[in-house]
Amino acid sequence: MGKDVIIACDFSSKKACMDFLDKFTGRKPFVKIGMELFYAEGPQIVREIKERGHKIFLDLKLHDIPNTVKKSMSVLRNLDVDMTNLHAAGTGAMMEGALEGLTREDGTRPILIAVTQLTSTSEERMKNELLINEPIDKVVMHYAKNAKDSGLDGVVCSPLEAGKVHDLCGKEFLTITPGVRFADGDIGDQVRVMTPAEAKKIGSDYIVVGRPITAAEDPVAAYERCVNEFCD
Ligand code: C5P
Repeated sequence: MGKDVIIACDFSSKKACMDFLDKFTGRKPFVKIGMELFYAEGPQIVREIKERGHKIFLDLKLHDIPNTVKKSMSVLRNLDVDMTNLHAAGTGAMMEGALEGLTREDGTRPILIAVTQLTSTSEERMKNELLINEPIDKVVMHYAKNAKDSGLDGVVCSPLEAGKVHDLCGKEFLTITPGVRFADGDIGDQVRVMTPAEAKKIGSDYIVVGRPITAAEDPVAAYERCVNEFCD
């Protein structure tokens, strides 16, 4: 796998999600299912979207004691998703437990990626509330390296950080980057954004795109535009 556009299906119900996916009659996009849809509809929504032929990134960001995460991952592995994630802040013991739980009996497993520091966490809050005194860039890179050393496949990061992550952790270590906008589109509540073409240039492996596709007048055309700019 590599170089693909993942659509963030941030819908609150199965109906809204399926109405959206029904528009895609040709190529089946890789989709991200997050907490909102998963908590609303339960694991069945994952099975149904998988049955329609989509690859799935299950974005549940696990973070708990290693044993709990290991056991939860061993449940999630049966959903046959292609990618899932956790918080690197759970430390190496939790990440190693997650990998163990996620690995099926035949040795295969979904891609496992880590969230470093959430982009919504400011350096000020990180210092004052989490008592982490290093600069945020350094913290993000350190968490990425720790995820790699624990055996994970990559990290979620800003497209602006993707190049640095590859320099530190190697080209094979995946960067999954949200915060993507078309050059002529609204940026909405995202602050640091890049176009799909720029994300490609900087070396992102997967871009996660939500509203520029889901809220477009013609979502299929917007998706194709992302694919053309990013993958081809
Ligand atoms: O609509 P938009 O393109 O902004 O959606 C981006 C998706 O990526 C959303 O599902 C959002 O939760 C997710 N995301 C993000 N920034 C992060 C991590 C995840 O925007 N740092």
